[in-house]
Amino acid sequence: MQYNFSDRLKNLSGNAIREIFKLVNKPDMISFAGGLPATQCLPVQFINEFADQLLKGENACSLLQYGETEGYMPLRHAIIDYVKRVGINDIDINNVLIVSGGQQGIDLSFKAFINKGDYILVENPTYLAALHIAKMYQANVIGVDSPDDDGIDIDDLEYKIKKYNPKVFYIVSNFSNPTGKTLSLEKRKQIAYITAKYNVITVEDDPYRELRYSGEHLPSIKSFDKAGNVIYVSSFSKLISPSLRVGIAIADKNIIAKLTIGKQGTDVHTVTLSQAIAEKFLSGNYLFPHIEKSIPLYREKRDLMISSIKQYMPPYFKHTMPQGGLFIWGEFTNGASAVKNFNKAIENKVAYVCGCDFFADGKGENCIRLNFSNASSENIVRGIKKLAAVFNGDIK
Ligand SMILES: Cc1ncc(COP(=O)(O)O)c(C=O)c1O
Repeated sequence: MQYNFSDRLKNLSGNAIREIFKLVNKPDMISFAGGLPATQCLPVQFINEFADQLLKGENACSLLQYGETEGYMPLRHAIIDYVKRVGINDIDINNVLIVSGGQQGIDLSFKAFINKGDYILVENPTYLAALHIAKMYQANVIGVDSPDDDGIDIDDLEYKIKKYNPKVFYIVSNFSNPTGKTLSLEKRKQIAYITAKYNVITVEDDPYRELRYSGEHLPSIKSFDKAGNVIYVSSFSKLISPSLRVGIAIADKNIIAKLTIGKQGTDVHTVTLSQAIAEKFLSGNYLFPHIEKSIPLYREKRDLMISSIKQYMPPYFKHTMPQGGLFIWGEFTNGASAVKNFNKAIENKVAYVCGCDFFADGKGENCIRLNFSNASSENIVRGIKKLAAVFNGDIK
């Protein structure tokens, strides 16, 4: 049968990381490719206890029934308090939507604003699933230059807003995936100001903020939003567990109402039992002690990967020094190709993601993204040595 797929999907290839998962799911492979939280940081005990309490409680049946699309009410209330940490005050329940992971927050935001052919600006490079979703809505995606350690070039942002008249600007504000970079305070203010001035919706994606290993927390872009044009998306995937699929979207109530309609047609509501578990982490004050316990482990892994890079990788490998998150970004300044060396690396049993998967315009062939959170300490050192052997040319 010749399938006549929709325009939206027929030219779209699979998300590169999902494809890499198939290759790296082998016992002797050292993978720096995914973005998985450390296995030791998954709170099995807490989730077991909370699920048990919830399912033995008097509301057990309602947790297993259909729920409201907007989300489980106790969690929505708890989120009003939770986002005060990022400087979002003065919101009420109508500004909060519970989504099935941050990914759905991005998807619903694009779904609500993007028509075929509309422009979306993104930091270049950016989260590859956001590029994938943008293409699904048949948007034109334009990259904004980001040469500095503190994120995008604000002049380039304004220039491209004027040139393309985009509907949406998407950015990861803390410890970006893929680069690990964090926007400075000044740039957050400028983004809020400029996007409001030109009527551009900003989707601020912030799943990594609480995973900070050094430096000071910064307020969100959303906290400087006076016009109501910023949608703040975050998630409990990296803080509790990705399989719960619980995230949040905070925005003007008229935007939330549209995102809710979009969500109705997608999954009706986020799994209520997962939402109730997330709520218990917040209301019982278990979340932050759990994060505090996880941070030393992540910090140690980051530091070990950085010191291994310094020790083993060639001198022309320039890399970021993220203050948090899960990723280090590196560039082969001699032009060595991450794409051409990928198969060699896989044969040598080490995996990474090629930089070009994160660029709106196919740049980044000489860049790689390395995840430090999921490999064991021993494998971080072994994996970097293997990678160094590939790029030093020792492996032909
Ligand atoms: C920047 C960014 N946004 C969103 C997500 C989606 O996460 P989830 O849907 O699990 O919350 C990820 C996951 O890796 C991410 O890195």
